[in-house]
Amino acid sequence: MKPVPHDHLSSQQQSSSHGRLGHAREARSGAKQPEAFDPARAARLDDPRRFEYLPPAQIAALLDAPKDATVVDFGTGTGTFAIELAGQRPDLTVIALDEQPGMLELLRSKPGAIQLKNLKPVLTDRMAGLESGAERILALNVLHELSDAALRQMIRLLKPEGAILIVDWEAQADRPVGPPKEHTYSAVEAQQRLEAFGLSVEVLKPLRYHFVLRARPAA
Ligand SMILES: C[S@@+](CC[C@H](N)C(=O)[O-])C[C@H]1O[C@@H](n2cnc3c(N)ncnc32)[C@H](O)[C@@H]1O
Repeated sequence: MKPVPHDHLSSQQQSSSHGRLGHAREARSGAKQPEAFDPARAARLDDPRRFEYLPPAQIAALLDAPKDATVVDFGTGTGTFAIELAGQRPDLTVIALDEQPGMLELLRSKPGAIQLKNLKPVLTDRMAGLESGAERILALNVLHELSDAALRQMIRLLKPEGAILIVDWEAQADRPVGPPKEHTYSAVEAQQRLEAFGLSVEVLKPLRYHFVLRARPAA
């Protein structure tokens, strides 16, 4: 039996969501996945099985945030990884950013989140003042959802000496979880997209189902 994708839509669910979310497609020009993430699927982001192939300690090590840095978790969803990072690194300020208020409500409702004074949930509509403020940005399972405008918005948050860690589903990998291949990038495609936006990209060792890229503003 085919395993059930536990943090994404099945193809049947995807086609049924196209009509409802279809209006969002035009606004998402450039995104590989045309529709927005459906908050009805948010529980999948909190499935602990995700940590088997996306270990939070490894993500934090790859992010390599300097002491006392500001980190933006761009497209934080329910804040699964922002909470882990803020808990592991109390010296950091972790800005958990999402475009969907419903996702941030789910984040705020988590007992673990309430206790973390260094975790700041922020809606993209309210992100004025955050430009050029982040030493690190984490973009986890989100590049394939980002329109060109959103990608530019993300890059603008970075300090000139900062870096973005992009971890996303590898289109070339055989995987029992995640979005359909046609909604995801290969590492090479992702690298080319990021370079077209003026970033210099380092290809890091992949995880089980994900490519890992570190991007910095090109000199
Ligand atoms: C697949 S979920 C991943 C959530 C989280 N990074 C994780 O791995 O647990 C993608 C999230 O990115 C958010 N997102 C997509 N485009 C965005 C944008 N332009 N700005 C902010 N958030 C965005 C969606 O609302 C959704 O919550």
